[in-house]
Amino acid sequence: MTLTIVGSQLGDEGKGALVDRWGGDADVVVRYQGGDNAGHTVVEGGAEYKLSLVPSGAVRGTVGVLGNGCVVNPKTLFTEIDDLRERGLDPDVRVARRAHVITPYHRALDGIEEEVKADDDAGDEVGTTGRGIGPTYEDKAGRRGIRIADLLDPDVLREKLEYVVPQKRALVEDVYGLDLDDDDRADAFDVDALHEEFAAIGERLADEGMTVNCSDFLYRRREAGDEIVFEGAQGTHIDVDHGNYPFVTSSNPTAGAAAVGSGVGVTTVGDGEVVGIVKAYLSRVGEGPLPTELDGDADEEALADEIREKGGEFGTVTGRPRRIGWLDLPMLRHSARVSGFTGVAVNHVDVLAGLDELKVCTGYELDGETIDTVPTTTERWERCEPVYETLDTWEPFDSAAVAEAGFDALPEAAREYLEFVADEIDTPIYAVGVGPDREETVELVNPFDE
Ligand code: IMP
Repeated sequence: MTLTIVGSQLGDEGKGALVDRWGGDADVVVRYQGGDNAGHTVVEGGAEYKLSLVPSGAVRGTVGVLGNGCVVNPKTLFTEIDDLRERGLDPDVRVARRAHVITPYHRALDGIEEEVKADDDAGDEVGTTGRGIGPTYEDKAGRRGIRIADLLDPDVLREKLEYVVPQKRALVEDVYGLDLDDDDRADAFDVDALHEEFAAIGERLADEGMTVNCSDFLYRRREAGDEIVFEGAQGTHIDVDHGNYPFVTSSNPTAGAAAVGSGVGVTTVGDGEVVGIVKAYLSRVGEGPLPTELDGDADEEALADEIREKGGEFGTVTGRPRRIGWLDLPMLRHSARVSGFTGVAVNHVDVLAGLDELKVCTGYELDGETIDTVPTTTERWERCEPVYETLDTWEPFDSAAVAEAGFDALPEAAREYLEFVADEIDTPIYAVGVGPDREETVELVNPFDE
């Protein structure tokens, strides 16, 4: 059996808690896209683990795999592994040899391109995490990337760096007009320095036996009867194909990528469960439209502040305050269709408790028409006026007691809210998050019991 976990909004839906919870019933947790732009917070027995690359399941001793669809910054990977070891854990992490490597020049280029876009005042900067994600995927598609396997062979590594690094220097100097001799990012474009650093990384990966042929590894694990969780990072609406282009990340967080990004067949993913993770309201970090954003007047801003504080809505990776909006059902309909959700988990239901008002966007008005899903262009989405349904609010409740007692113990208005959402997107609710700790989840269906 496989379980694929997908972010159904703009990332930060609380996927980590569910991966961690259900990953405990699995043997292997696989990330299939993205890199250290992801921020997963896992709370276990009061201890908080902030992970951006190591799969969340590793906190509970499950084998973690970074699939070929990931872009891997090995420095982040080693820092996280070392940190977990220092805290007494023994994470077993494998990395696909076909995964692409984020190098210092990718990170530098990410920053430089954003600076250039910000300077031209056209408002087209994406607000990336600055982790080099886009430039690394560009090189992958451009067939000039460095893969994990290349780090294991110093001669191959040198050959590749000697081909690509001068191109990057020229891009920075001739296109972006920077003088690298007078820039503290110069080392990022120095072949010898890069070779020394990354050959040593290759040695450590080899010494620790961390690299795998991902497809083969997962095939053998499944043959041996293992259960697998595919852990999506980011969310559907920042998917490079299905999201709000160009305000997107450069990979596919949607479920189809679980197959491509790990080397298992689509039939394997499709035979399993695909659970969309939903936040009970919306948050967005970075630029781009957000039709239900609470920023219209001082009252709305105060409400956004309240939700932001209660929900701890500050970026795990960058610390940026997240923009806040009402739950948007057109977005969820799109997500459910693109990934074929078999169920959803709705998180942060506790954060909405005690509000004076509660709205849900059921559709949009656009050019005199009412539509029920997200338009294909950013320009049209930006012009959408949300159509709202106002629902009853509920009072704060004891999350631990409710999680223990089950769905019926939730306040009636919260149950109505959840049933309304499930009905509108025609997908059953598998779990409800009522607090940050893994235990603070009301489970209706455990996908591994199906
Ligand atoms: P990048 O992935 O760093 O290239 O950033 C592209 C866009 O995706 C920016 O708007 C980021 O804020 C957003 N983004 C990337 N990773 C995450 C995430 O894990 N959660 C939420 N937003 C993200």
